[in-house]
Amino acid sequence: MKENWNPNSWQNKKALHQPIYEDQGKLKKVSNKMKRLPPLVFAGEVRELKCELSKCVDGKGFLLQAGDCAESFAEFHPNYIRDTFRVIMQMAVILSFASGVPVIKLGRLAGQFAKPRSSPIEKKDGMELPSYLGDMINSIDFTQSARKPDPERMISAYNQAASTQNLLRAFAYGGYADLSTIQSWNLDFVKKSKQGSKFKILANRISECLTFMNACGVNNHNVRQLSETNFYISHEALLLPYETAFTRIDSTTGDWYNVGAHMLWIGDRTRGLDSAHVEFCSGISNPIGIKVGPSTDPNVLIKVIRKINPKNEKGKIVLIIRMGAEMINKLYPKILRTVSKAKLHVVWSCDPMHANTEKAKSGFKTRVFKKILSEVKSFFKLHKTEGVYAGGIHLEMTGQNVTECVGGMQKISHKDLSSRYHTHCDPRLNASQSIELAFQIASNLKKFL
Ligand code: PEP
Ligand code: CO
Repeated sequence: MKENWNPNSWQNKKALHQPIYEDQGKLKKVSNKMKRLPPLVFAGEVRELKCELSKCVDGKGFLLQAGDCAESFAEFHPNYIRDTFRVIMQMAVILSFASGVPVIKLGRLAGQFAKPRSSPIEKKDGMELPSYLGDMINSIDFTQSARKPDPERMISAYNQAASTQNLLRAFAYGGYADLSTIQSWNLDFVKKSKQGSKFKILANRISECLTFMNACGVNNHNVRQLSETNFYISHEALLLPYETAFTRIDSTTGDWYNVGAHMLWIGDRTRGLDSAHVEFCSGISNPIGIKVGPSTDPNVLIKVIRKINPKNEKGKIVLIIRMGAEMINKLYPKILRTVSKAKLHVVWSCDPMHANTEKAKSGFKTRVFKKILSEVKSFFKLHKTEGVYAGGIHLEMTGQNVTECVGGMQKISHKDLSSRYHTHCDPRLNASQSIELAFQIASNLKKFL
């Protein structure tokens, strides 16, 4: 256990992107209530994830972290969770088949409710209001009262996270992830597309392999990995009162664990060496992601990594690189070299979403599929050049047929954006674009591993 650290020690540091709660008494009451709520995950599962992640450092595993930009109370439906789960499973199969290594499935789910915003103020029709900060903090409705931070929202977010996690566990361990049912994973609206057909061909090949393996005596009755999967959850550790309440001592090891998610990450805006968020994350035993954007100073990054992972444990740190299609070639090599030279064990993961966001003329925030793909390709190429294993991918996606990112084989145009634009924050890849991207990444894995 780390000395001079406790779940509240972050309060001595500067905490950016925190809401100001008017009623501090209510915040205290809610915090005390949250401290007694059941955990969403167990410390043993967190250790298992860390062990799986350590393989992604050594080239023996690959991390697929994917899900919503921001979960919302309005878009909560079991079918949405099911469809996102299905698409993540499809992507994992595509990646695993290409790379020949196990793929870790890690959802941006069951707790991803708080958002850092570029501006604290939003303007609309001449009116100015505080920005929407995620359903865990305030409401997206554009009224003064809706935008007021309310601590009770943390309880609602926890309750939604608990139901989501319950369903994810049922899908992962209750037969839904059985490889013998792979033919049924294609969603109806994807089936008719090119990606759908491509997936069907892959599924047929896997089914053939399963038939052969069954003939050899290996099947879903005697090998757990064929009938179920580990499915982990993660979110940004942004709203510190929430994270503090779910940080508890594990009775078997005596160490602090955050039991609200298997993995947490620190956002690009809150990763400062002396920040409250780095202080908070330095004391918990969960794997920690660190977003690495264009403003990252490699020498400071090294200090942050050492602060969070002083023993240089494998599987503890995931660097989530988000440079943008235009900047990655210029900015990334120095970071890659500096961290590698310092012999720090990290999983290198590519987030091709967050630095490729743009505002369309229509006012919608969007991302261009070609740019996403271009950043992914550059990432793998740079890793190949430096001789460092590229161990993961971080995506914002949904299993729904939304029109939020433009391009891809479906040819979603700027004009289409308004038809099914549902995100509460950043634009997500839809199911078809996600599968298309997975096939593209798979071909890069084959080329560059
Ligand atoms: C996010 O992952 O939703 C996010 C806000 O990312 P970043 O911190 O990289 O901007
Ligand atoms: Co986002």
